[in-house]
Amino acid sequence: MEMVGEARLEAAREVVWEALNDPAVLQASIPGCESLESTAKNEFTATVVSRVGPIKARFAGKVSLSNIAPPRSYTLTGEGSGGAAGFARADIEVSLDALEPTVTLLRYGVKANVGGKLAQLGSRMIDAAARKSADDFFELFRKQVDGRASDSTSLSAAQPAGMHAFMQELSVPVAEVATVEAPAATPAAAAAPAAANAKASTLEAAPTPTVPERAAAPRDIPAQPAPVLTPVSQVPAAEAQAEVMDVLTSEKIKVWISDQVAVVTLNRPGSRNAMTYGMWLAMPSIMAALDRNPEVRAVILTGAGADFCAGADIAEFEQVRADVAQATTYEVAVDACCDAIVNISKPTVAVLRGYCLGGGAHLAMSCDFRFAGQDAMMGIPAARLSIIYGVKGTRKLLSLVGLSEAKKILYGGQRFDATHALRIGFVDQVAGLGVVASGRSFWERLIGAKQQVAKSDPMAEARAFATSLAGNAPLTMAGAKYLLNGMAMGTGALDLVRSEALIAAAAASEDYREGRAAFGEKRSPKFQGR
Ligand code: COA
Repeated sequence: MEMVGEARLEAAREVVWEALNDPAVLQASIPGCESLESTAKNEFTATVVSRVGPIKARFAGKVSLSNIAPPRSYTLTGEGSGGAAGFARADIEVSLDALEPTVTLLRYGVKANVGGKLAQLGSRMIDAAARKSADDFFELFRKQVDGRASDSTSLSAAQPAGMHAFMQELSVPVAEVATVEAPAATPAAAAAPAAANAKASTLEAAPTPTVPERAAAPRDIPAQPAPVLTPVSQVPAAEAQAEVMDVLTSEKIKVWISDQVAVVTLNRPGSRNAMTYGMWLAMPSIMAALDRNPEVRAVILTGAGADFCAGADIAEFEQVRADVAQATTYEVAVDACCDAIVNISKPTVAVLRGYCLGGGAHLAMSCDFRFAGQDAMMGIPAARLSIIYGVKGTRKLLSLVGLSEAKKILYGGQRFDATHALRIGFVDQVAGLGVVASGRSFWERLIGAKQQVAKSDPMAEARAFATSLAGNAPLTMAGAKYLLNGMAMGTGALDLVRSEALIAAAAASEDYREGRAAFGEKRSPKFQGR
C-alpha cells in the first residue's frame, strides 16, 4: 500500500521539526499509541492498539528514525506484530517546507505492508484504514504543534536569522530607482549577475526618480513624435529615502529568506495590500539587495492575508497622484518598481491569492511566473478610473495573453478568475486544479475517513517550483531571462511620446477625478470622456 499526503501547519518549521523528534508528541499523535519509549538514539519501542475493519489488535514493535536531515526531512519506520492478527510495517518519508516564517507544509509518503490475517482483509479496507490513521495522526499532531507555536519563546527562536541581516542591509541607504527610459532588462542586472553580486554590500546612495517633460501639455496629444525626453523634475532624495524607510520599518513590505528562496510579502492586508507610493519606491532597493545576495537563488512575491494586491492605493491618490505632474512622477515609481522585479537576475514567481488588480496585476506580470490559488481574481479596472494602463504594463499584458484578450481585459475592466487566467495565459498554474477530489470508498465512509480533497496552496507549489529552480545554473537562468524579456518586451514601432501624452491626458481629465471620487464614495462613476 502506498499513500502520499500533506498538511499545512501554522507553526515555524523549526517548531514542527522539534515536535517530530519529540517522543511525547509522537506518542500523543499516533492513534492508539499506548507507549513509546526511547531505547537508543532515534530508536523506540512502541505499543499501538489499532483496528483495521473487523480486526482489532495490539501491535508491539519498534519505531526508528533514519535519513535524518534537520530540519527538513527524515524517514520514520514502524514495524510491529499484532499476534494472531498478523504484522504491519510502514516506512513514512516526512519532509518539511517552510512556506512562511510561521507556516510549514508537511509532506509525507507512506509505504506499508501487512501480513497474516490482516493481509486477508483486502487492499481497499487496508488502504482506507491507513488513510484514516494518517488523517488522525495529523489532526492530533496539529494540536500538539499549535500548542507549541503559541509559546512565544519557541516562535522567536524560530525566526530566520537571515531576515535581520537583510533588514540591516536595507536600512542603510536607499533605492537604485530606475529612470523612465530604463530597458526591460538591463545587462548589468541580468547578463552579468556575477558583477551585480559583487557590488558593495550596502546600497549605493539613490539616484532619484526623474519625471519627463511630456507631462506639460496633457490634452495636446502630439500627432508626430516629440523630441527626446529629458528629466525636468525630481523627487527629492531625502523624501524618497524617508518613504522607503517608512515602508521597511512599518513592514508594509516584508522579506523572508529561507532555503535559498526569498519571499517578498506585500503587507497591508487591511487594504488588500494596495501599494502606497512609498511601497513602489521601496521595491527597487529590496530587489537590488536580493539580487546581490548570493544566498538567494529565487524570489517569490506574494501578499499577506487573503489577497495578492488590489493595485495602487487609491485612497492616497488625492495626495500623491492628483494632477498630471504628480501622476507622471507616480508612474515613474510604478515603472521603476516593476522594472526592478523584471530586472532581478534570479527567477521570480508571483503567488496570487484573492484580488490581483490594476497595479497588482503589473507586479504579477513583472515576475517570471504566476502561480494562482483557485480563489484568485485578476483584473485591470483602469476603465473604471479613467486611467490608461502604462506602456510597460500593457506590453507585458500583450506579451502574456495576446492582443484580443488584452483588449478584452483593458476595455472591459472586468475581473476574471483563476481558471480563465490559466486559459488565456495570464497565470502559469492554478494550485490544485485538475486534481479531482477522490471520492471516498465504501469503507472510508464507514469508518469516517475524511475526504482527500484537492490541495490548493499556490505558495506550496510556488515554493517547490522555486526550490527546483534554485538548484539550476544561475548564469543560465539570468542569461535566458535577459534574452527572453528583451525579446518579449521589445518596444517595436510604438510612439512612446504619444503613448505617454495619452496617459497624461487621462491623468488630467475630469473623468479621473470622478473615478477617484466614486471610489471614495463607494458608488459607480459617471464618465463623460473628458
Ligand atoms: N486602494 C486603497 N484601498 C483599497 C484598495 C485600493 N486599490 N482596494 C481595496 N482597498 C480597501 C478598501 O477601501 C477597504 O477599505 P475600508 O475597509 O477602509 O473601507 C478595504 O481595502 C477592503 O476593501 P473593500 O472594498 O471593502 O472589499 P470588497 O471585497 O468589497 O472589494 C475590491 C474588494 C478589491 C474589489 C475593491 O476594494 C476594489 O475595487 N478596489 C479597487 C481596485 C482597483 O481599482 N485597483 C486599481 C487601482 S489603479
